[in-house]
Amino acid sequence: MARPVVIAGNWKMNGTIPETESLIGALLNGLPTGGSCEVVVCPPFPSLVAARAAIGSGAIRLGAQDCSEHESGAYTGEVSTAMLLTVPVSHVIIGHSERRTLFQETDDRVNLKVKRALGAGLTPIVCIGETESEREANATEAVLERQIRVGLADLDGDELARLVVAYEPVWAIGTGKTATPEMAQEAHAFVRKQLDSLHPGVGDRIPILYGGSVKADNAAGLLSERDIDGALVGGASLKPADFLAIIAAGSGTLQGA
Ligand code: PGA
Repeated sequence: MARPVVIAGNWKMNGTIPETESLIGALLNGLPTGGSCEVVVCPPFPSLVAARAAIGSGAIRLGAQDCSEHESGAYTGEVSTAMLLTVPVSHVIIGHSERRTLFQETDDRVNLKVKRALGAGLTPIVCIGETESEREANATEAVLERQIRVGLADLDGDELARLVVAYEPVWAIGTGKTATPEMAQEAHAFVRKQLDSLHPGVGDRIPILYGGSVKADNAAGLLSERDIDGALVGGASLKPADFLAIIAAGSGTLQGA
C-alpha cells in the first residue's frame, strides 16, 4: 500500500502572528503545483487562528505543537483538543523530545495525549527517538521499542493506522548533525517492525517521518530511503526557500508503492 509523503514544519516557539502570516504567504506562493506530498505547518498556539485564515483554501494543513491529555478544566496554561478543533487544526505533534526532556513528558503521558487526540479526530504526529548517550550505549532499539510500546499502548488497528510517527534522534535536533540516510533507514525499518508488532499489517500504513537537522541539501538523500516517508523540520521550516526545497524533494515520491 502506498503511504503519503508528509513534510511537516515544527516552528517551535518562533513567530509572532504577523510573522506567521507572512511565512504562510511565502509558502503558498512557492508551493509546487500538483505536488504529491502533504504539507503541514505547526505554529505556536497564539498564531493558529491567523494561520488558518492565511492558509484559506491553500494546500497546507495546520497542526498544533502539543495538546493536553485532559478534556477541560483547571489546567492553567494547557490547550485542549476541543479548542484546537475550533481553529480548526488537523494535526498535533505529541511527545516531541523538547517536551520530553524540558517538560518531563513521559511515555504514559504521551499515550494519554495520543488517545485524546485520536478521540477528537486529530492526526497525532508522535515523536520518538534516542539521546546521544542512549545511542552510544547501544540502547537505541530498546528506547524506540519502549516509546512505541508504552506511548502507543491500547490502540486498535484502525487507531494506529491514523497516526503519523516521527523518528527524531535527539542528538540530531537543532545541532546540524544529521543521521546518515543509512542510519535513519535502519531506525525507520526497526520502528516499522515495532509498529507492526502492535497490530499486524499496520506498519506498512503509517507514514514514518525523519526529523533532526533536515535541510534543503540533505532532504532528497533521506527521502530516497525506502522507509522514510517524509520529514519533520524545525529550523529550516522557518525559512521559506529552504522549506520549499524540502517540499520539492518530497513531491513526486510515493513510498511503499
Ligand atoms: P531541527 O528540529 O530540524 O531544527 O533539527 C527538528 C524538530 O525538532 O522537529
